[in-house]
Amino acid sequence: MTALLEVRDLQAHYVSFGGERVVKAVEGVSFTLEEGETLGVVGESGCGKTTTCQAIVNLLPPPGRIVGGSIAFAGEELTRKSQREMRHIRGAQIAMILQDPMASLNPLFSIYRQVSEPAYYHRALRGRGLRERVRELLNAVRIPSPAMRMREYPHQMSGGMRQRIVGAIALAGGPRLIIADEPTTNLDVTIQAQYLDLLKELQDKTGVAIIFITHNLGIVARMCDKLAVMYAGKIVEAGTVRELFNAPRHPYTKALLGSMPKLGSKEKLLAIPGHPPDLATLPPGCAFHPRCPEALPTCATAEPPEIQVIGSWSARCWRAEPQEISATDATTDSAKDIHAAAAVGD
Ligand SMILES: Nc1ncnc2c1ncn2[C@@H]1O[C@H](COP(=O)(O)OP(=O)(O)O)[C@@H](O)[C@H]1O
Ligand code: SF4
Ligand SMILES: [Mg+2]
Repeated sequence: MTALLEVRDLQAHYVSFGGERVVKAVEGVSFTLEEGETLGVVGESGCGKTTTCQAIVNLLPPPGRIVGGSIAFAGEELTRKSQREMRHIRGAQIAMILQDPMASLNPLFSIYRQVSEPAYYHRALRGRGLRERVRELLNAVRIPSPAMRMREYPHQMSGGMRQRIVGAIALAGGPRLIIADEPTTNLDVTIQAQYLDLLKELQDKTGVAIIFITHNLGIVARMCDKLAVMYAGKIVEAGTVRELFNAPRHPYTKALLGSMPKLGSKEKLLAIPGHPPDLATLPPGCAFHPRCPEALPTCATAEPPEIQVIGSWSARCWRAEPQEISATDATTDSAKDIHAAAAVGD
């Protein structure tokens, strides 16, 4: 069966005017997403998460561009689509929810106009049918008194409510994939939790697949089936949330998990020492080696290959090894514990 989304060896760079500086923001990213699945993408700021998603929907800001690889959505190659074709796909099949709801909302248009637009263009709804659809969408994202609220403007709403309106717009065209780029970062902890529960509920109802970009592993434990850990423009470890939470193979995944706060613990959040590298001047070998507590001499000179741990679980690290079938590490249930214990807030 064809996967909903299959990204293969994607490369997206920002090339400065004159070409003297090339930021390799996405460098050989591959992953697969099935219908209805949720993939979490994590990594520190500047590792290429947003660029990956903008490349998928063909919305890379200049001077960014896709320089290699393929993006197949429901079997269709997106990198060869025209802007016009992509506009249709973005409204009807793939929707984005961004970190700052004001960036997706137009302050000059009423909520009704903004929520109805995708339904008007992509579902060909008009008149009473369109009004009904907007009301239904606002109800679905729990906007109280939708008939009244749809006449209002973004500035009349709270941050949490605006983000839910963005959610309604995302759902309006009936998408098969939602890409949510740190959608709860600007919300306070309680509102974040409510928003995440709402997204999950809507996903259960509609069967939409979600790519969830976050730097918060608590959110991943709560929301995602699969996880891709990005570092310096590459996916350095990928697998199911359970696999990666139970027995991470890549030292960067271990460091991210180690930096996550546990509920009830008074321990301070452990920051990972050092900084991610400048993507225009990457260190030789493994890009993580200057910060890696487990680095080997080879790590400073040779780039590690991608090792298949087991099934679809992979890690780019000289220390990673294929797992023997009999030796299962998945006997503990720490992913579930983490789920229960995860603090959603930053
Ligand atoms: N418009 C841009 N022009 C030039 N470089 C950019 C632009 N946007 C992002 N970058 C660079 O691309 C890299 C990846 O950025 P981004 O995809 O935003 O990472 P993340 O979402 O993981 O924080 C960073 O080094 C960033 O500086
Ligand atoms: S390849 Fe080496 S430096 Fe890179 S993460 Fe693995 S052990 Fe650390
Ligand atoms: Mg980002």
